[in-house]
Amino acid sequence: MRIFVAGASGAIGIRLVPQLIDRGHEVIGTHRSPRNAERVRALGAEPIEIDLLDPGVVRKAVLGTEPDAIVHQATALADLRDFKHFDRSFAQTNRLRTEGTDALLAAAREAGVRRFVAQSYASVRYAREGGPIKSEDDPLDPTPVPAMRETIAAMRYLDEAVTAAGGIALRYGGFYGAQNDGLVEPVRKRQFPIVGDGAGVSSFIHLDDAAAATVLALEHDGRGIYNVVDDEPAPVREWLPVLAEVLGAKPPRRVPRWLARLFAGEAVVMMGTESRGASNAKAKRELGWTLRYPSWRQGFVAAYTATNRSAGRNAHPPSRTSLSQA
Ligand SMILES: NC(=O)c1ccc[n+]([C@@H]2O[C@H](COP(=O)([O-])OP(=O)(O)OC[C@H]3O[C@@H](n4cnc5c(N)ncnc54)[C@H](OP(=O)(O)O)[C@@H]3O)[C@@H](O)[C@H]2O)c1
Repeated sequence: MRIFVAGASGAIGIRLVPQLIDRGHEVIGTHRSPRNAERVRALGAEPIEIDLLDPGVVRKAVLGTEPDAIVHQATALADLRDFKHFDRSFAQTNRLRTEGTDALLAAAREAGVRRFVAQSYASVRYAREGGPIKSEDDPLDPTPVPAMRETIAAMRYLDEAVTAAGGIALRYGGFYGAQNDGLVEPVRKRQFPIVGDGAGVSSFIHLDDAAAATVLALEHDGRGIYNVVDDEPAPVREWLPVLAEVLGAKPPRRVPRWLARLFAGEAVVMMGTESRGASNAKAKRELGWTLRYPSWRQGFVAAYTATNRSAGRNAHPPSRTSLSQA
């Protein structure tokens, strides 16, 4: 297929493009920053510079390149720091998930594109009640914390718009696998604490595994929503000390909920204490997906050992087991 990858220069895009080419697909890869043209070309794709928030430009790019499939991986999260003002930090990404999705879907319809896959998110979205691991059929949180309302609404908009158009929304777990992952510096500097009892459950996914699931979704017939997460959703109190150990950092601090609420905001408290994880059973069953890093336990070591080596630190392989997939 000829595949139009919106966001080819991003963290997932740079893993996805080579995997698509290995499978024999032709790739048109978009980027926003002019300096990324060469990066996309070096991956083996035909680069095209577009602003996804300009529907005229998107229409021209899609009609001009005549793809069989489109995958939307564009976000604006490179400088994400402020989780207290969550919606403000996600504002541009929310526009990419609403207006950007609309622009791509309209262009896809006009160009007769057969397949459409888009990036969504699994963690923090499922209802904060019942068991710790949720499937795609479980209810979403009906009352997201106020600071996250617009962000949660944008993800929901994307899921609904894409599946209504016959496409696939991939609810990824928290990405890791690059040496500049957002978690690394805060954990190393002990700025990422365990809040309260640390019972909030996180679902992670290594970027290589996320890209592999995306290739399979593009090659799959039919619409749907899939959680793309690893086999081991785990509470913060369990994975965070392991990550600190792997990074050669001191153990994480513990802070009470009230203090975290004051300094970091309600969203951080919710993620640290109440969030639910996600099950990957449907993606494995229907897409035939297998994971290279079934747990963050091996994945963190694989991803960060090189970082530690270059910084002269020792990495420690983790040992215990936690929640397992339903
Ligand atoms: N599920 C998750 O946990 C998740 C999801 C997404 C991102 N992240 C993390 O967030 C960090 C930043 O992500 P990233 O490195 O992928 O960078 P990013 O800044 O989020 O960019 C992602 C892609 O979207 C493109 N883009 C941004 N604005 C655009 C626009 N208006 N129109 C068209 N394309 C646009 C970027 O192009 P240019 O780079 O050329 O500007 C890039 O190709 C990474 O650590 C990543 O792992 C995590």
